[in-house]
Amino acid sequence: VTRALSIGLLGLGTVGRHVYRLLGDGETIAGRAGGPLEIRRIVVADLGKDRGGAAPRHLLSDDPHAVVQAPDIDIVVEVMGGLDPAGRAIRDALAAGKPVVTANKQLMASSGGELLALAERSGVDLCFEGSVGAGIPLIKPIRESLAGARLRAVTGILNGTTNFILTRMAVEGRTYADALAEAQRLGFAEADPTEDLDGRDSAAKLAILASAAFNVNLRVGDVFREGIERITLKDLAYARELGFAIKLLAIARTVGEEVEARVHPALLPLDHPLAQVADEFNAVHVESEDLGPVVFTGRGAGGAPTAAAVVGDIIDVARNLRLGVGGRSRAAAPRAPRIRPMEEVVLPYYISLQLTDRPGVFARVATVFGEEAVSIASIVQKSRGEVADAVFVTHDAAERGVRRVLERLRSLDVVKALVNSVRVEATV
Ligand SMILES: NC(=O)c1ccc[n+]([C@@H]2O[C@H](COP(=O)([O-])OP(=O)(O)OC[C@H]3O[C@@H](n4cnc5c(N)ncnc54)[C@H](OP(=O)(O)O)[C@@H]3O)[C@@H](O)[C@H]2O)c1
Repeated sequence: VTRALSIGLLGLGTVGRHVYRLLGDGETIAGRAGGPLEIRRIVVADLGKDRGGAAPRHLLSDDPHAVVQAPDIDIVVEVMGGLDPAGRAIRDALAAGKPVVTANKQLMASSGGELLALAERSGVDLCFEGSVGAGIPLIKPIRESLAGARLRAVTGILNGTTNFILTRMAVEGRTYADALAEAQRLGFAEADPTEDLDGRDSAAKLAILASAAFNVNLRVGDVFREGIERITLKDLAYARELGFAIKLLAIARTVGEEVEARVHPALLPLDHPLAQVADEFNAVHVESEDLGPVVFTGRGAGGAPTAAAVVGDIIDVARNLRLGVGGRSRAAAPRAPRIRPMEEVVLPYYISLQLTDRPGVFARVATVFGEEAVSIASIVQKSRGEVADAVFVTHDAAERGVRRVLERLRSLDVVKALVNSVRVEATV
């Protein structure tokens, strides 16, 4: 008989309890993992907490260090979250030659390169499918199935809370505050949703995805970031009139020797596959030299979907461990990419203004665009008596030029208000 491999499960919260449940189907798991798996220890913070029978009490410990070092633990599964003690536990496990499965977005986005290098040196696996998009298969398809396809761009809707808010605003005309409250009521948004709203959650996920896609070590701090706080119902309505949805996009792209990495709200043509992704759903659109566009979509959060990804990784790791081939799928140690500065990024812009409604005003505004070599693709204008709403969509322009246009418009006397400016993602 094949010996059971022992798992140390660090964390028994939203994700951990589902990992425990899924591994309970021993026969199916053993069939896929090439032999039985057994959870031998579970680490929690509070041993006294009532867990409603989620796992047997005698398995619980509050000492991650002891569990990782225990000689009878073969595989470490980290679903505690946070940088520490999770980071130390993972480093210790890898250094001790134990494979690790984690769903820790925060840690992988800040130290993924270092941890993968450590795993490689130790000749063991470090898998992190659950860290982005919960159960949507992304890391493995991108790193393995698409490894030959020369990936050029990854564009994602990576945060369910913000996508839910923007969808409800666009579809039902709800206000931002109202849509956020609804997201919280339905359990999509955290009690403190700041990291969702300001794009930090998406930026962390993008760093992980882009690193996998381009085989580089891109860190969360390399990602330009803007949240959805400034998007109004008016912007959504004008965008729609012009043929666009507005989504919080996470975009990474190779441009020559450089990598562009940015998270911001963006107008997206209504026929783009990501424009159709509604509510709490996530999606990732991958462009490559050799394959054309590929889209992955599904629910990007939740205990059970994330646990499904974690258990998939555990099965992989267990099989490799039995075959003695852990750590062999790693590419060359990734290097830090050259990041394209945001001012040099080239894309169209949506610019919404309030203008004095009298003759000659448009000409003065158009002159500013012309003098900064930013050309206008379309205009919507609505007179409201004294003032007129004017919405411009430009052709491709370097961000630096658009920033100069915005600055000059702000100081024009005929411009009553620079209402908003939003980037446009036009490539399908
Ligand atoms: N929830 C999701 O939808 C989702 C999706 C994708 C990825 N993830 C990632 O999965 C990880 C876990 O998330 P979660 O939602 O399951 O978190 P959670 O519900 O807060 O659970 C965390 C678990 O870890 C334990 N823990 C926390 N700090 C500890 C410490 N210092 N020492 C010992 N035990 C500690 C907690 O113990 P107690 O039970 O005693 O409090 C709890 O059991 C995070 O990295 C998160 O980013 C979550």
